[in-house]
Amino acid sequence: MLDIVKVGDEVLREKTEKVTVFDNSLKILIDAMFETMEEAEGVGLAGPQVGVLKSLFVIEIPGDNIKKAFINPVIVETSAEKTVNEEGCLSIPGQYAEVSRFSRVAVQAQDETGRPFTLKADGLLARAIQHEYDHLEGRLFIDRLSEADREILLSRYEKEKNRKKKSRKRR
Ligand code: NI
Repeated sequence: MLDIVKVGDEVLREKTEKVTVFDNSLKILIDAMFETMEEAEGVGLAGPQVGVLKSLFVIEIPGDNIKKAFINPVIVETSAEKTVNEEGCLSIPGQYAEVSRFSRVAVQAQDETGRPFTLKADGLLARAIQHEYDHLEGRLFIDRLSEADREILLSRYEKEKNRKKKSRKRR
């Protein structure tokens, strides 16, 4: 299991580098990321969120039967239409906000063996791909909110985090 980096850590603000070596240690990392994400009940997890500044993320949407690693992804097409929906992030646990995203995207990436693929996505998968892609560029979903909404969300996050810490101490 890997530790998930939380908002405030500068590693979430760094840009990532391309993966050039597709070896067994990459497969081990990808497996560990899937496990960590499942344990945290998320649908996506990107390299920087586990302190790895590489261009990769994993997505698993059980309802859609999707479990996939995206290495060196590039979003190559976006729809004219956008959709607003609620979004959260394992690096800002417990906080959700409405975010506007392209309704459909096409992404080119490589799998964990280095094989290239192209995927067209809509719905939750399209949203997850855009959210995780942002992580690779050092962006978080809260960057897409107004400054006022972002401040409200972050102060709520800090409050709830401190409350949890206190109740843990009391035990
Ligand atoms: Ni996230």
